[in-house]
Amino acid sequence: MITNRQVVLASYVTDAAQPENFALSEGPIPEPAEGEFLLRNMYFSMEPAIRGWVDGKANYFAPIPIGGVIRGPSVGQVIKSRNNDFVEGEYVFALNQWEDYSICHSDAILLEKLQPEDGIPLSYYVGSLGGAGATAYIGLHEVGQIQAGQTVVVSAAAGATGSMAGQIAKLCGCTVIGIVGSDDKAQLIVDEFGFDAAINYKTDDITAAVMAIAPEGADIYFDNVGGPVLNAMLPAMKVYGRIVGCGMISDYNRTDNPNPITNLWEMVSRQLTMQGFLLPTYQAKVPAAMAQLEEWIRAEKITVIENITEGFANTPTAFCELMSGQTVGKALVKIDL
Ligand SMILES: NC(=O)c1ccc[n+]([C@@H]2O[C@H](COP(=O)([O-])OP(=O)(O)OC[C@H]3O[C@@H](n4cnc5c(N)ncnc54)[C@H](OP(=O)(O)O)[C@@H]3O)[C@@H](O)[C@H]2O)c1
Repeated sequence: MITNRQVVLASYVTDAAQPENFALSEGPIPEPAEGEFLLRNMYFSMEPAIRGWVDGKANYFAPIPIGGVIRGPSVGQVIKSRNNDFVEGEYVFALNQWEDYSICHSDAILLEKLQPEDGIPLSYYVGSLGGAGATAYIGLHEVGQIQAGQTVVVSAAAGATGSMAGQIAKLCGCTVIGIVGSDDKAQLIVDEFGFDAAINYKTDDITAAVMAIAPEGADIYFDNVGGPVLNAMLPAMKVYGRIVGCGMISDYNRTDNPNPITNLWEMVSRQLTMQGFLLPTYQAKVPAAMAQLEEWIRAEKITVIENITEGFANTPTAFCELMSGQTVGKALVKIDL
């Protein structure tokens, strides 16, 4: 009998996530009710946001309880449908769960019907043409109000969202500086993703390094990490600069004791704007963003690097590797079924 493998929460995560915080479970394949459709998941998207759902505390989503299936975005194929808008064989991206088969419906968070283009791997729709690409594009345009000629700084620049944000900013005619956590990643973002310059936040003085490259400071800081990097970027912003609050991964393992931000006065003296955003709020903007990203990828104007882990059972390990900075590009799991 074919069953539905699931990854469930074995214990609340209190510091860095470990594979032991998760367990494998099996259950029956669910049956879609009226209005629902059944997906066979093909790829899981590894997302830092999941760390915020496994510590037993509420944030913008309810915490996952012990024994609960881990929530996360996936790309899957419709294999049974009782929803007229979704037919068997279609591909879908949505916030589902870490399981072989997910029940989905028209109101699912992040739901996008996919029409994979010939020559573009399906896995791209998990990252560069999925949440990471859309977040980077929408964050820069809707929140950052990016314009040609600006200086844009991106943190976690070798990662899924950061590598896309840097490349999109270059395509918009900006000078782009990336902040990363190793010299290898610094080399990679310049050589492979076309950043103009790279800063290693573990060894460099971020404020001085940005000001050396852009003496007037950054017009836009696309912040994926918060904490000390954000703190160091505040005095490196141009007057009227904009900070795009995409994520704060440096605080995800220390929600009870977040990193202090001591340079907040710079928000006043430099008359800065900082706006946080969550992709689901901008769902209506996703199709246009995807169309533009697809065009750039087809034209080979964007380089996609994927960090693919094979096998359902390796999903917890893949997530832990993402959180500890071991991956470059988009971290995802290819499900064996
Ligand atoms: N707002 C939204 O809707 C939205 C949507 C998607 C993602 N996000 C956010 O975007 C950010 C990036 O997500 P992603 O999926 O693209 O992940 P990612 O960048 O592919 O991977 C995470 C990277 O974060 C860096 N990192 C880890 N701990 C750090 C620390 N203490 N200080 C500085 N950097 C650290 C590591 O790179 P280094 O080696 O360079 O340290 C790691 O490779 C996350 O904050 C995530 O929550 C937000």
